[in-house]
Amino acid sequence: MLIEWSKDLEIGVTFVDADHKVLINLLNQVDDCIDQNEESTVLGSVLDALVEYTDYHFLREEKMMELSRYPGLKTHCDTHRALSQKVRTVYDQYQESPWKVTAHEIRDFLKSWLVDHIMGADFAYRDTCLDNIEAANQAGDVGFLGADNSFTGWEHLRIMLVDDNPNFRRLIRTILRAVGIRHIQVVDTPQDGLARLADRPADVVLCDWVMDEMNGTEFAHKVHEMQLPTRIVLLTGYSTDVLKERSSELGIADYLEKPIKARNLLETISRVAMSATPVAGDRLNAG
Ligand code: FEO
Repeated sequence: MLIEWSKDLEIGVTFVDADHKVLINLLNQVDDCIDQNEESTVLGSVLDALVEYTDYHFLREEKMMELSRYPGLKTHCDTHRALSQKVRTVYDQYQESPWKVTAHEIRDFLKSWLVDHIMGADFAYRDTCLDNIEAANQAGDVGFLGADNSFTGWEHLRIMLVDDNPNFRRLIRTILRAVGIRHIQVVDTPQDGLARLADRPADVVLCDWVMDEMNGTEFAHKVHEMQLPTRIVLLTGYSTDVLKERSSELGIADYLEKPIKARNLLETISRVAMSATPVAGDRLNAG
């Protein structure tokens, strides 16, 4: 692991510390993917999540500083723009030529962002923002999906992830936890997924399409045979043309192409969850 969370990094504002943990986790995942020469769809998905979550964190943090009338707001925002540009440059390099993304660049970003920024600039606003905890709470309420998404059932949502790639499983778990999903089952084979679903139901299953022994569509068919009220979202690095035409016939609620984007994934999950049975809808809305 490139870096571990420690108390030394703790600001004391709940959402800020939670965001920093997510970002450290994603940075470690980028580093691991590079070290392990991971396939490009997985590294691309992690980099996408890092870009999206960095922007989201900066948005919330800047709102908190503004509401707290922190005098160093302008300088802090300028630093955020520079850091955003840095992470976007790494991402653009990856899109242009995946092999150009190197561990050196990630470690450089990690140092400038974590050591210099959190330990310096973020700690500088600490006392002002802790004295204005209402402002911090208000900023912390800004959702990752924005005001247009009204889904509030994350805490009650039950998700299963079926994927044979450990780095992809780790990424999806990080994204799901970041929005407060607590009930997450993760399995690496469809057979294990079917066995578990019989005992522990899931509202939505995220399932890799191409796996050994049983593919995602066969898995969906078996879930349908079990008459479970579970909705299936297929994740695939291949073209989804076949799925576009046959998703309903195959029992697929939706599908996403890898590399996946965190917002797209969560919007799809919320849409699919709300189109589930009325009973599931009521339970999730209760959140
Ligand atoms: Fe936590 Fe200013 O970034």
